[in-house]
Amino acid sequence: MTDPADIAGPAQLDGLDRLGGLLTTRTFGRAHEHHVSLPSTNDRALAWLGESAPDGALVTADAQTAGRGRLGRRWSSPPGRDLYASVVVRPGAVPAGFGALALAVGVGLREGLLTALPELHDLALKWPNDLLLGDRKLAGILCESRWRGAVVELVVGFGINVHRRSEEFEPELRGGATSLAQHARAPGRAVILAAVLASLEQALDAFFDRGFAGVRDRYAPHCVTLGRDVLIERTPGGPQTPATAVGLDTDGALLVRTGPGPTTRVESADVWLR
Ligand code: BTN
Repeated sequence: MTDPADIAGPAQLDGLDRLGGLLTTRTFGRAHEHHVSLPSTNDRALAWLGESAPDGALVTADAQTAGRGRLGRRWSSPPGRDLYASVVVRPGAVPAGFGALALAVGVGLREGLLTALPELHDLALKWPNDLLLGDRKLAGILCESRWRGAVVELVVGFGINVHRRSEEFEPELRGGATSLAQHARAPGRAVILAAVLASLEQALDAFFDRGFAGVRDRYAPHCVTLGRDVLIERTPGGPQTPATAVGLDTDGALLVRTGPGPTTRVESADVWLR
């Protein structure tokens, strides 16, 4: 059987040079730096932020040599196969319910990917901010913030596995990671990124307006964590507590049950599906 990843064609023909002509956003991607290779697009966006990057400024790279994930993990970033992108966001005053930012980013990514690839019916969100296809990780989100008094400045970074075949993932990732091309005929990276930027901008507008309430109905129905037995790891490498995820609080915190009695709030943790 043909691996759908073969259909997409050579990665070197799939550049982001067409992005400008595909954008439908107000600000996201209107200023754009593309690099053949960077240590990390988030690091470059943070530096650009300090050099007065405009709202929506976008940094992309074909490869990252020190791509970063949450909790200090490494993000596998080989050349030309996937999307590595970071957007500077200047919401102004700190929005209410700011802790749920990554959930709103997940909504934007999911809806953008579905615009570009409507056949991805089982594209799901894992709390707090992973995107899964068939219980395997497709994309990750790394939001970083800087504060100036009451004003917050953000870098919203995301990595989406686009063209990689299973054997192109490092052996330790192979069992748990997937790519768009393993599930569908993936369009070019510029088409995918333009769709994601449009949905992301719209989801963050709703979030900055109303907090988690602004995106809740677009997050909860697609959150694969809800109703599942999980392991909660509150500190990296710390103990893993078995629990059942039963809901989301008004601010996006995960509500879990570890036994009889009331539910417990989880605001920040690694959550593993059992
Ligand atoms: C995670 O799942 O742990 C988050 C992964 C975030 C990876 C992206 S790739 C683009 C941007 N630059 C980085 O160094 N990290 C993010």
